[in-house]
Amino acid sequence: MRIAVISGDGIGKDVTVEAVKVLKAVGERFGRAFDLEHLPWSADYFLQTGITIPPNGYDTLREFDAIFIGALGDPRVPDNRHARDILLGTRFELDLFVNYRPVKLLHERLCPLKGRGPADVNFSVFRENTEGLYVGIGGRFKPGTEDEIAIQEEVNTWKGVHRIVRHAFEFAASRGLTKVCMADKSNAMTHGHALWQRVFRELAPLYPGIEATHYYIDALAMYMVLDPAQFQVIVTNNLFGDIITDLGATFQGGLGMAASGNIHPGRTSMFEPVHGSAPKFAGRNLANPIGAIGSAALMLDTLGLTAEAAAVDAAILATVEAGKGTPDIGGTLGTREAGDDIADKVLKF
Ligand code: NAD
Ligand code: IPM
Ligand code: MN
Repeated sequence: MRIAVISGDGIGKDVTVEAVKVLKAVGERFGRAFDLEHLPWSADYFLQTGITIPPNGYDTLREFDAIFIGALGDPRVPDNRHARDILLGTRFELDLFVNYRPVKLLHERLCPLKGRGPADVNFSVFRENTEGLYVGIGGRFKPGTEDEIAIQEEVNTWKGVHRIVRHAFEFAASRGLTKVCMADKSNAMTHGHALWQRVFRELAPLYPGIEATHYYIDALAMYMVLDPAQFQVIVTNNLFGDIITDLGATFQGGLGMAASGNIHPGRTSMFEPVHGSAPKFAGRNLANPIGAIGSAALMLDTLGLTAEAAAVDAAILATVEAGKGTPDIGGTLGTREAGDDIADKVLKF
């Protein structure tokens, strides 16, 4: 397996070291070699070279079996240009239309919702990942004046909506799940989100064993907090999916706990924690590596290494159940020590 590793910026670097540590433990435990190639693309690299991603960058990435990313974002690059090219650019260019973000609570003490435990918080969000408001179509007219007009277009295509909604249903069907909820804002966004309504209504009858429900996104946010147990699979657009998965991360114990995959089934896909580069925490042995390590487990699972992925997930769970971890989840370990603990458990699994 050839894996491209982009540590990126801030705590992205800290947590990637730990994810790599755990991948090496998996390699040792299961007797398989991972060929990890580190790519330097980051804010540092951009500031030194003026290059965000080299001209052949996306082709380079396509040659790997998978891509692992820490996080991108640095106050020295205020327009976030490098993150747009590296992170969003890869999602677009490699057509990674599925942003798979499981929301799974590992222990009751980590959940800020009163009285909720692992049985109540266990669902998957499928965020459309290649269109919506992220396409960067628009512009500013008379910028910096009181006459300024700023336009940012939201793109919804039948192909784009259909493939992510279908993926959500297929995921549910393949796991024996019985509920898929689609969230949009079709009451206000009467053109773009009417397409989501149409596609959802057309696909739902093809899955008679699955209860298809719809919430407007504002109500969905409310129900996520009030009654998270009702959800098994949520499918939504790019921006709404971004927002509700930070909310979902808090149910799991915070942004440091949440994992994600940017996936095009059957093609080179990219895995990254949900959190960003948290510059204040960078290089201080404070960042929680579990979101990154969980993302590595998602990567292994997507690559078909099911037993290996299960070993990593079991190791994470054992560490959390033992009350160990970084301060954000109430532990006393540093980033490195938390990574060591999980890697040791993988070796003994
Ligand atoms: P952030 O996720 O970096 O951090 C927000 C807060 O969440 C932090 O201050 C911290 O309190 C907590 N947190 C996040 N990750 C943690 C971890 N692993 N362990 C412990 N606590 C953690 O979000 P932000 O502050 O809005 O963004 C910072 C930068 O990261 C920005 O440049 C943003 O654009 C970028 N960003 C990148 C990605 C990505 O690369 N996938 C994702 C989100 C944000
Ligand atoms: C995420 C991040 C990115 C996004 C940013 C860094 C552009 O917040 O992966 O959730 O909005 O997709
Ligand atoms: Mn986000």
